[in-house]
Amino acid sequence: MIGEPRVHVPECESTQLLLEPSMPEGAVASADHQTIGRGRGGRTWEDAPGTAVLCSVLLKPPPGRRVTELTLVAAVATAETVERALDLTAQIKWPNDVMVDRRKVAGGLAELREGAVVLGLGVNVNQTRDQLPTDARIPAASLRTIDGRLHDRETILADLLAELERAYEAWLAGGLDALYVQIGARDFLRGRRVSVNGTTGTALMIARDGRLEIETESGAVAVESGEVVYER
Ligand code: BTN
Repeated sequence: MIGEPRVHVPECESTQLLLEPSMPEGAVASADHQTIGRGRGGRTWEDAPGTAVLCSVLLKPPPGRRVTELTLVAAVATAETVERALDLTAQIKWPNDVMVDRRKVAGGLAELREGAVVLGLGVNVNQTRDQLPTDARIPAASLRTIDGRLHDRETILADLLAELERAYEAWLAGGLDALYVQIGARDFLRGRRVSVNGTTGTALMIARDGRLEIETESGAVAVESGEVVYER
């Protein structure tokens, strides 16, 4: 069961460091503030204290499963949580960003540790515009800057863990195929001009194996991972 045991701290370097592979699957660490929050690609993830949902979840998928797919599993769960909170559609910018109105409200990070996966999730909840990063490669938003309301972070976290459990169970049983409709319906990049690791073209879709398919001048190419630069 995702969410047990759970440790919550007022402050830490990163919730990713509070979980050990020896803990039971489903263990969760959360914090009100991170001093060295980790983002993808070695970047930092910043938060104003007490404004965001910051959590890490320990998962132990069976050997042989493609753990990179868990980033998309997390993105589906996060998008569904954000949608319920806002009553608006959220999109998934492959492979890990959750977007509303072309702004990033949440991100996920899967780190491998001794065969286990520490899945980190950050949701911008109650930040004001001034408290969001301005130098972000992708413009940032919080639930509050979108709908003008303060949201209860514990409720968002509880919803997020419940959605993650549903999505993870579906993935364990049926792989990404089991989540394909949820992913495809929210594909932010589809139809946009993109560039990933030197491959440039028009994003076609997120394939059933989780790769991003891009139509290039020399035909369709599937990209395994990387940072996407896209045209607004
Ligand atoms: C990204 O979009 O670059 C991924 C961001 C992941 C941030 C979360 S916040 C909770 C967990 N602890 C971290 O240090 N990072 C993840």
